[in-house]
Amino acid sequence: MKSIQKIKGTQDILPDTSGKWQYIENTVRTIMERYGYSEIRTPMFEVTDLFARGIGQLTDIVSKEMYTFLDRSKKSVTLRPEGTAPVMRAYLENNLGESRPVQKLYYISPMFRQENPQAGRLRQFHQFGVECIGPQAPEADVETILVGLDIYQELGLKNFTVKINSVGDAQSRFAYKVKLQEFLKPHFSQLCPTCQQRYETNPMRILDCKNESCNALLTNAPRIFEALTEEARAHFDKVLSLLDQNEVKYEIDHRLVRGLDYYTYTAYEFIGGALGAQNALGGGGRYDLLAEEIGAKKQTCAVGFAAGIERLIMAMESENLFPERNDRIDVFIATFGGATQDAGFKLAHQLRKENISVVTELMGRSLKAQMREANRYGARFALILGEDELQSGRAALKDLVKSEQKEVALIDLAEEIKNQL
Ligand code: HAM
Repeated sequence: MKSIQKIKGTQDILPDTSGKWQYIENTVRTIMERYGYSEIRTPMFEVTDLFARGIGQLTDIVSKEMYTFLDRSKKSVTLRPEGTAPVMRAYLENNLGESRPVQKLYYISPMFRQENPQAGRLRQFHQFGVECIGPQAPEADVETILVGLDIYQELGLKNFTVKINSVGDAQSRFAYKVKLQEFLKPHFSQLCPTCQQRYETNPMRILDCKNESCNALLTNAPRIFEALTEEARAHFDKVLSLLDQNEVKYEIDHRLVRGLDYYTYTAYEFIGGALGAQNALGGGGRYDLLAEEIGAKKQTCAVGFAAGIERLIMAMESENLFPERNDRIDVFIATFGGATQDAGFKLAHQLRKENISVVTELMGRSLKAQMREANRYGARFALILGEDELQSGRAALKDLVKSEQKEVALIDLAEEIKNQL
């Protein structure tokens, strides 16, 4: 029988890499708390409509990539492909706006998209993200960018850039779509088949096409900037001015439109310099209309971003940024079966209660094999507990780092170890 394997596009995070995840997650939490963000955890699956209406029917995510299925009661449910729509749903459903006009929420969660797997593109991947719900002020947009930058900076990442654009409000976008269609009309036949479809349904997504010929056509395309309403332009100007005042380097990218339909005003991305084709480390922006799309009675302003953890790990590995692993245990207790094994087992239990990390022999191996095991654990001390030691109540405590050893009374062992650690 063929052995069962993991699903394509998923990853096992094994003990030799889980330390990297913890390192990143701890840093993310520290920075989030520094900005007053609180963690929110929403369910891994939601009713399909939340994403269809929230992200947009015509986006790649909704039309091609969602894990959607009927549950046993024939309800259509979807594994969440992203965190923003669920967070907004939870915000509305739990009336979070009533207790606080500004809700700053963050998450670190797995997401699911049925994309073609490749380096940096998985079917189950992980994001950390923030959603700042309530304020309309451009300060909120910039604050979310600063959160991202602080996280990358704290982790030591250097090789990345911030790209930013304004996708305007509904009115600016409508005006721009017409302009863009007019510009592309004479070149329609040169567009790739996907962009030919987008021409009618979602022309702004053509700006994001990776196809060479579409790209070439767009060189002289009108810019959305020229179609921004006065309000949208003022918002964008203020965002850029705040970035300047806070010495944030950024690039304005007139073709940055993002793959989700809910954005209004600011859109931005963190681009990794060493990531190859999947170079977006993270992205986000303002989404003032999402709440109404999913049923809110009134407008709810919000802005946020999410960033891929797998891509961040790749970027950090390329810059050699992970600290040496430090998961040494304090003591390995070597025993020789029978009464020594029971005594070692009990001693370990007592030492752990004193906050000392201990591993004991579980396979009944030779002393040599046990010392090899102590080395695998990077044990600082080894205690060798034979019949004689049990009788006398004293044993040799070997310091494996300093290559020294000292005879100690078993009754004083915890104190002795604590003094030397
Ligand atoms: P997104 O651009 O779709 O935005 O995803 C954000 C980040 O998640 C990407 O930049 C990338 O690092 C990572 N990512 C996306 N898809 C994959 C994949 N298949 N494999 C590995 N990593 C991936 C959002 O999800 C929005 N919810 C962001 C947001 C929050 N906007 C406002 N608030």
